[in-house]
Amino acid sequence: MALLPRKKRCKGIPTSTVSQDHLGRNSPVGEVKFGEVGIFLVERRMGSSRRRFLTELARKKGFRVEEQMSESVTHVVSENNTGKEVLDLLEKRNGISRTGFTAALVDIAWFTESMGAGRPLEVESRHQLQVTREAVAVTEVSISSYACQRRTVLKNKNRLFTEALKVLAEAAELNESEGRYLAFSKASSILKSLPYTVTKMEDLQGIPSLGVHSRKVIKEILEDGTCSEVENILQNERYQTLKRFTSIFGVGVKTADKWYREGLRTLDELRASNVKLTREQEAGLLYHNDLSAPVTRTEADLIKQIVERAVHKFLPATVVTLTGGFRREKEFGHDVDLLITHPEEGKEEGLICQVINWMTTEGLILYGDITGNSYKGRSKDPGIFDHFEKCLSIFKLKKELVNNLESEKLSHCDSLAGDKTRGIDLADHTEAAQQVTVAAAGSKDWKAVRVDLVIAPYSQYAYALLGWTGSRLFERDLRRYAKHSKNMSLSSHSLFDNEQNIFLPAATEEGIFAHLGLEYIPPRERNA
Ligand code: CTP
Ligand code: MN
Ligand code: MN
Repeated sequence: MALLPRKKRCKGIPTSTVSQDHLGRNSPVGEVKFGEVGIFLVERRMGSSRRRFLTELARKKGFRVEEQMSESVTHVVSENNTGKEVLDLLEKRNGISRTGFTAALVDIAWFTESMGAGRPLEVESRHQLQVTREAVAVTEVSISSYACQRRTVLKNKNRLFTEALKVLAEAAELNESEGRYLAFSKASSILKSLPYTVTKMEDLQGIPSLGVHSRKVIKEILEDGTCSEVENILQNERYQTLKRFTSIFGVGVKTADKWYREGLRTLDELRASNVKLTREQEAGLLYHNDLSAPVTRTEADLIKQIVERAVHKFLPATVVTLTGGFRREKEFGHDVDLLITHPEEGKEEGLICQVINWMTTEGLILYGDITGNSYKGRSKDPGIFDHFEKCLSIFKLKKELVNNLESEKLSHCDSLAGDKTRGIDLADHTEAAQQVTVAAAGSKDWKAVRVDLVIAPYSQYAYALLGWTGSRLFERDLRRYAKHSKNMSLSSHSLFDNEQNIFLPAATEEGIFAHLGLEYIPPRERNA
């Protein structure tokens, strides 16, 4: 689209929307419609007047444009600069470290196209400024081999490699080869944390946790676009079958392998066989279709609300927190993880039985298995598993309620955005309405969703929250770091200092990081 000169644009701006920018100049500021996107325009080669014009234009369209580079910036937009030049500049002028840099570095094309569309567009590779390893200055990069000392957001610049390594890790897990599983998982995780896309082998110099095998895989992908070993695994019948069977709730690798060796290949064959299933596996197989569909953020929010209402019936001050992947800001998950506690320690005992019984009679739960609290006082030697009272369950979620909450969220956006967005939002409503129709047309009006409910006594709540937020690798490395670097034992219950021979209580996650002498990493950066 052609951008109009600044003077013409300013004419029609009502004075009520004029406010002062940080320099005290009057500038038009529309209502922010896309708060989650923060734009920073690089002035170099753009010039100050064009920058000002583009800033005003974007703000008028409801974009949030920051005058200064800050943590809330998600898109750094520049014109006629290379990625390296922008990083150099941000470092020199704004003191932004290139290693911890998480915003997208995009070309002006992304900006103009987004203005044209009236909304922030997905960043495509053609929009991205290439940042090579050299630009991230070899000497400055010091990447920890502990995931708990790295910041890993969901945006991953090396998906091509991490997806391949994930397949290798899964295959190793299905072969019960723990060492190989860890090696490939770590390699994948370290690539996820890199602030640049690997384009040649030299980009990997000095990066820890990358073994010979992982490097070979990356090299092959760089040369051929794919890795033959990964392609072979994906075609492998045993891999496919074991993945299929372990995707059933309650089925582990050993069971899946046993069924495979007995000649079973598909879920239908399993259903038709006389294999003895546990109660959990029976439910897993029965609701497999629903349980294989990703759980959405709205579904997770709704389930949290339902559980909150249920626990408050029995104990009004009970606190319910969404943990797991959703707390790390994932948009989709395989289940919903909820942590439950009560400020008066002891009150939480027995609560879960009451709640599950009530929800079952209300028809809200399809399956539930409660495990009692097996915590035998404080243990200095934390095992792999925690000992909290918990319920692994399957909820029966009314699709109508999901649609209602979805519409509520949409209309909330609508009222926030005001008249200017009506066109876009109406389109979204149409989509939502279509979903309602689809749901109504489907054979059933509910969806089965896996939910983990965990009950933590208040004094252990921070540890439980940290332990249940994940990711799996982040948790593993937190414990490894505690043990090897601090001579401490960390679990979802407590932290024990083996040198001082004392437990270190904590009321918050920040407190735990502080005990460990670690910089605090917020949940959204724990996607290792
Ligand atoms: N966890 C645990 N003990 C278990 C199961 C899980 O401590 N018996 C912790 C793990 O550290 C994990 C977190 O709870 O990181 C959430 O587990 P899970 O639901 O399996 O993974 P998510 O990260 O939530 O991923 P997804 O979106 O696939 O659910
Ligand atoms: Mn989860
Ligand atoms: Mn879970």
